Amino acid sequence: MPLVAPLAQFPLFYCVKHPLIAHKLSLLRDKKTPAKIFRELVAEITLLIAYEATQDLSLSEVSVTTPLENMLTPMLTDRYPVIVPILRAGLGMTESFLQLIPEARVGHIGLYRDEESLQPKQYYFKIPQKSENSAYFICDPMLATGGSIAKAISLLKERGIQHITFVCLVAAPEGVEVVASAHPDVKIYTASLDRRLNEQGYILPGLGDAGDRLFGTK
Ligand code: PRP
Ligand code: URA
Repeated sequence: MPLVAPLAQFPLFYCVKHPLIAHKLSLLRDKKTPAKIFRELVAEITLLIAYEATQDLSLSEVSVTTPLENMLTPMLTDRYPVIVPILRAGLGMTESFLQLIPEARVGHIGLYRDEESLQPKQYYFKIPQKSENSAYFICDPMLATGGSIAKAISLLKERGIQHITFVCLVAAPEGVEVVASAHPDVKIYTASLDRRLNEQGYILPGLGDAGDRLFGTK
């Protein structure tokens, strides 16, 4: 198994270890990596992590006829997952989930961090109807203070959603602690647990502002 749970006190925190993820993440961190390559790397790393993060999806036995005979065989059936990117940067991860699970539905949560207070400000919320019993996968490349993802999880729980997994690319220990104490039932998957936050709430060594690098806004 390529998974390790590096922090004994957070049993639902998984850092996915794989040479391809490590290599691609190093390229992603490089400030010289242009937006086009950055977007491709975000998508590729997400694909590799999503494979692990979806390992508990429930299956039903369905009848399939092969060229030779009938059989009962497992499939994802009625309750397809819901993918929820946190805007903006989570958008860069969404297509990878949809490649793996084309039947998934997509919700959107719009949040930005106030530059002074670092508190998340909500500006959009839309999730699929009748999806309370679905497995939800929230995606956002960065888990920094944890304010944004903690808020996103609370918004989903207020609507009765119970099965929530968070997939990010880089996590700070401070943010993992915030999520694990506010939402100890939520699994977190990441490609890296970085060192710490700086005074402006950016992850060290990190990769900078994920939204700006994805969309070329700075
Ligand atoms: C970034 C990132 C997360 C958030 C993480 O988004 O994509 O959503 O910050 O920080 P936190 O853990 O301290 O809350 P940002 O607020 O910069 O918005 P953007 O994606 O629109 O740039
Ligand atoms: N948001 C980002 O995009 N990067 C960080 O390092 C912290 C928050």
